[in-house]
Amino acid sequence: MATQEGNLFDRIGGELGLERLLADFYDRVLADAELAHFFARSSMDKVRRMQREFFGAALDGPQVYSGLSLSWVHSGRGITTHHFNLFGQHLLATLSESGIDEVDVREVVHRISVHKNDITGEGY
Ligand code: HEM
Repeated sequence: MATQEGNLFDRIGGELGLERLLADFYDRVLADAELAHFFARSSMDKVRRMQREFFGAALDGPQVYSGLSLSWVHSGRGITTHHFNLFGQHLLATLSESGIDEVDVREVVHRISVHKNDITGEGY
């Protein structure tokens, strides 16, 4: 699936690659008893659609994120650094097991992790 050609988005497999990664990733998140309850009252269709846009845009894809600001969406939900780290571990496991080059895996995790402060409302 991974190639050395193109930008980061191309190297993770483009639109189809991203869709597969996010499906696997959210399966892991929702199977985690410490995380699943956060999504209990959310429309997962909408979360998945917005995540495709957000990740696509963050990884140099053609998508434009049309959702709400991350701090607005996540504030007041009690999401701590601990939850954020679990989320990040599932992302890392998803990417590592997908066959994507290790350098690209680290780049993806980095580009998503920079948003930690908006998600938890905490400092680093
Ligand atoms: C850097 C990491 C994260 C990113 C980039 C991210 C991104 C997003 C995006 C783009 C949405 C959709 C926004 C919209 O509807 O307009 C969303 C929704 C949501 N996220 Fe995150 N998220 C992250 C981490 C987390 C974590 C760690 C949790 C909980 C443990 C979480 C819980 C939620 C929930 C519950 C919703 C749905 C809110 C609703 O019902 O409207 N997110 N997130």
